[in-house]
Formats: sequence, structure tokens, C-alpha cells
Amino acid sequence: MNLLHGITGSTRVYAIIGHPVKHSFSPSMHNAAFQHMRLDAVYVPFSVAPENLPLAIACLKALNIAGLNVTVPHKTKVLAYLDEITITARRIGAVNTIKIEDGRTLGTNTDGVGFIRSLEAFPFQPEGKTVVILGAGGAARGILVALAEAGASRIIVINRTQGKAVQLVETFADVFPETQLQALTLEQLTALSVDLLINTTTVGMEDHRSPLEGTHLGNVALVADIIYNPAQTPLMEQAQSLNIPTINGMGMLLYQGCAAFEFWTNQPAPVEIMKTQL
Ligand code: ATR
Repeated sequence: MNLLHGITGSTRVYAIIGHPVKHSFSPSMHNAAFQHMRLDAVYVPFSVAPENLPLAIACLKALNIAGLNVTVPHKTKVLAYLDEITITARRIGAVNTIKIEDGRTLGTNTDGVGFIRSLEAFPFQPEGKTVVILGAGGAARGILVALAEAGASRIIVINRTQGKAVQLVETFADVFPETQLQALTLEQLTALSVDLLINTTTVGMEDHRSPLEGTHLGNVALVADIIYNPAQTPLMEQAQSLNIPTINGMGMLLYQGCAAFEFWTNQPAPVEIMKTQL
């Protein structure tokens, strides 16, 4: 189907809302996927200011929109306006994907599962593993939930503001009794044997700094950075100089999109097509 000329009255409409939304990779990734799968569907960006979020969600049903991605700054606030929310999204406290079915909105969160799928590149399975998460913001929370749901045996959160790390692990202590959750300091990292270390902080995005500057990485087997721009962060360089395998956040971006595509269409996402498009 030619997307520019093939739009008809029966074309299904998908969208992303954010503020700003201009730089999102999702429209090109999903339109390439729809086209490849020969689905009569189109994906468009909508810039929605924070005060218009309730109205935008109410309009989904009125406009017969099939599915939606939600990005900054709406991911948390949108929960209040949905009919149903998956357990994972409720635990994370954020929704990035919505489908509208039989006149009801169902919200989920594909960021964490997208991150876990990106680890297959190492390869890495979370079950029974010890994982360190740097950072305690929204991204850290999504990844912590996904790792615990996937059976990680020990998750350690290290954050500049340690109180936030403590709060994060306390929130989930009863939710995931099978996973040992701890808030530690950077100094304590060197004494640990770590299967996977993940950077969820913004350090390395614009400042050419590693969140582990001056910290020994000797006992870390794998390093993942959720930053994808730059594609190579100072933390990744630090790890590579010790021959530790690394991945950046491109895989998480790709696979959260694949999981959203599958949530909407119940069909396997054309991963290679979406990857090429990114
Ligand atoms: P997101 O939702 O993307 O996770 P966030 O909630 O703003 O974003 O969280 C950003 C994370 O990066 C936080 O863990 C933050 O640490 P603090 O809680 O101490 O603020 C971390 N971060 C940001 N800048 C940092 C810096 N210069 N050094 C260390 N950590 C930093």
C-alpha cells in the first residue's frame, strides 16, 4: 500500500502524543512496519500540550483512533484517563502504549519489555541474575519492574540522590518478594559481582561523562546504556576498554516499538524493517 495515496475511509489511524513530539522516531518506524505488513494503517504525530491531555484521550474514541503511543510529558498523567491498565503499566506507574478496542481504552507499558528484548543481542536472560541499575527516575522504574517480572534474583539501585533509590526499592519490596531489592552506593559497587549494569541516568547524553567515572568496573559482565544519542557513551567506552560487552539504547527504542506494534495488531512485528528505518 502506498501510504501517501492509499489512505481511505477504512484506513486505521495510529498516533503518538507528546510535547514536543517533533523529534520522535516512532512515525517513520511504524509507518514502515504497516507498509511492509500490508496493513491499511497510518501513524501520525500529535503535539498535545499538558493541559489538553484529558481532551486528547477523550477524543480517541470519538475519532475512532486504533492505537496510541504516549511520550514525555504525558506517560504518568495519562493513567487517570484510561478505562483499563495492564498490571505492568500500573506497577510502573506509566503508560506508553494504548489500544482502543470495543470503545474502551487499554493502556500498557512496552518500555521495560522492550529493554529486556534488546538484551537478547548480548545474549542475556534476566532469570536468576544480579543486575545494577544506575538512576532512580521513571526509566529506572520501568526497567526494574520488567527485570523483576522476568525473574532477576537481585536488583541493586544506585542513584546520586540515594533517598530516591531507597524509595524505589521500598515501593517494590512486597510486590516482588522473590527478587532481592537493594539501594546501594557507588562505593559499594566494586565489591559486587554483577551480571548486568544498566545506565538509566542522563549522564553521558550531552556532557561526555560516565556515571561511573573513577569507579572500578572489573566485576561487571555486561553494560547497557539506555542512551542512544550519542550511540557510543563514555560509560560504554569505559566498559569496552575492559573488554566488557556493551549495548546502547537503540535496541530498547526498537523493541518498545515492536511490542507496541504487536499489542495493537496481534501480529509479529517486522523487526528488521523497523530497525532499518531507525
Ligand atoms: P527518566 O524519567 O528518564 O528516568 P528522571 O526521572 O528525570 O528521568 O531521572 C533522571 C535520573 O538521572 C535520576 O536518577 C537522576 O538522579 P537524581 O535522582 O539524583 O536527580 C539522574 N541524574 C541526572 N543527572 C545526573 C548527574 N549529573 N549525575 C548523576 N545522576 C544524574
